[in-house]
Amino acid sequence: MSDGRRWLVTGANGQLGGFLADRLRLDNRDFAALTRDELDITSAASIDAALRDVRPSVVINAAAYTAVDRAEVDEDRARLVNATGPQLLAEALAERGGRLIHVSTDYVFDGTADHPYKIDDPTGPQSAYGRTKLAGEQAVRAALPERSHVVRTAWVYGGPGANFVNTMRRLEGERETVQVVADQIGSPTFAADLAAGLVELAGADVPGGLLHYVNAGQASWFELTREIFRLIGADPARVQPVDSAAFPRPAKRPAWSVLSTRSWTAAGLGAPQPWPDALARAIALDPPG
Ligand SMILES: NC(=O)c1ccc[n+]([C@@H]2O[C@H](COP(=O)([O-])OP(=O)(O)OC[C@H]3O[C@@H](n4cnc5c(N)ncnc54)[C@H](OP(=O)(O)O)[C@@H]3O)[C@@H](O)[C@H]2O)c1
Repeated sequence: MSDGRRWLVTGANGQLGGFLADRLRLDNRDFAALTRDELDITSAASIDAALRDVRPSVVINAAAYTAVDRAEVDEDRARLVNATGPQLLAEALAERGGRLIHVSTDYVFDGTADHPYKIDDPTGPQSAYGRTKLAGEQAVRAALPERSHVVRTAWVYGGPGANFVNTMRRLEGERETVQVVADQIGSPTFAADLAAGLVELAGADVPGGLLHYVNAGQASWFELTREIFRLIGADPARVQPVDSAAFPRPAKRPAWSVLSTRSWTAAGLGAPQPWPDALARAIALDPPG
């Protein structure tokens, strides 16, 4: 139903951006979902033109530099997209009016906690990507404290593009066994659920601030992959656990990325669904060929 709000989604070609557009379309909202070519968040002029054209009351920023390993050698560019861009969006909305929902990441934490990360746990990014995302959070909160929400999420998958679930489904068809790291634990999150949560948040009367949204529960990449295999009718025993040391990567991955959503439910927002249910729905949208 249209609710008198006008919505603007940035990064519409991305994983989350695509699901946000789908959610808003299904709900018959008045929205524009703009790709990087249509709205470059690193350009104040581009932001100004889009805000003049769309006149949004709510902006959801799904645009980001998400190439975690490339960011290690391209931190300036990552910072431009992940920190300067959100800052420009927040400053423009501070001047014109409107709310901003900005999406951040578990990578702002150091990954050593022994409990699901709460919104006020100390940050300590271990990678260039994490540093630039943390700078983006801080810039948004400083420029638009009352009318912004920063929502951290983790391990997002869904849709046809490159993501962990699609990679494992492809490898299932190519290899007899697949080795997957078992010593990183996180909160797998279906982008469609995250999109619905962000739309719910934008429509609710929640004071500005930090929140976490992930599907409920926790899993290692190995456990997630076994569940993917089970759901597509493949033998989960073909998935074998290995340590992260078997797959050295340029950017350090947090060993522990489980986020607490107590902030989310305490704000009166709907409790996130358990990750295995969400994964089953994601795979049902794109059943095994
Ligand atoms: N994926 C995860 O596991 C994960 C985990 C935690 C948090 N997050 C956060 O969730 C959010 C959404 O991530 P995602 O997985 O949907 O990422 P994604 O699929 O990589 O999408 C990001 C989109 O941003 C666009 N973009 C890049 N630079 C831009 C710019 N200057 N102006 C406008 N658009 C620009 C990209 O455009 P092109 O298509 O043209 O490249 C892409 O469409 C991000 O804030 C990310 O940090 C993601």
